[in-house]
Amino acid sequence: MRTLAKVDVCAVEELAPGTMRGIAVGEERRIVVANVEGELRAFSGICTHAYAELDGGFLRDGRVMCPLHFSEFDTATGEALGPPAEEALETYPVKVEAGRVVVEVPP
Ligand code: FES
Repeated sequence: MRTLAKVDVCAVEELAPGTMRGIAVGEERRIVVANVEGELRAFSGICTHAYAELDGGFLRDGRVMCPLHFSEFDTATGEALGPPAEEALETYPVKVEAGRVVVEVPP
């Protein structure tokens, strides 16, 4: 069983429905939390096709669109829904603890 590290992303009020927020984790990783109609979803914040930060993209209908070449990913499963990206994003458990959005990521 792998250990998960908790990442405090923001206050829950800072993540309104239809918005997303990215945060760096360490020096090379980034995660994004999206509020999809009140449901929080966390996933890797860097596109699997090339280097693009997905929180600079677009969130619509539960999908995030990469700002660089416009691949879309399912924010619930991470699945790549259209080319050029083929690989899925990692997804992570997310919850609210004492009013803060907290994501659990592998260290
Ligand atoms: S970098 Fe995201 S689709 Fe190319």
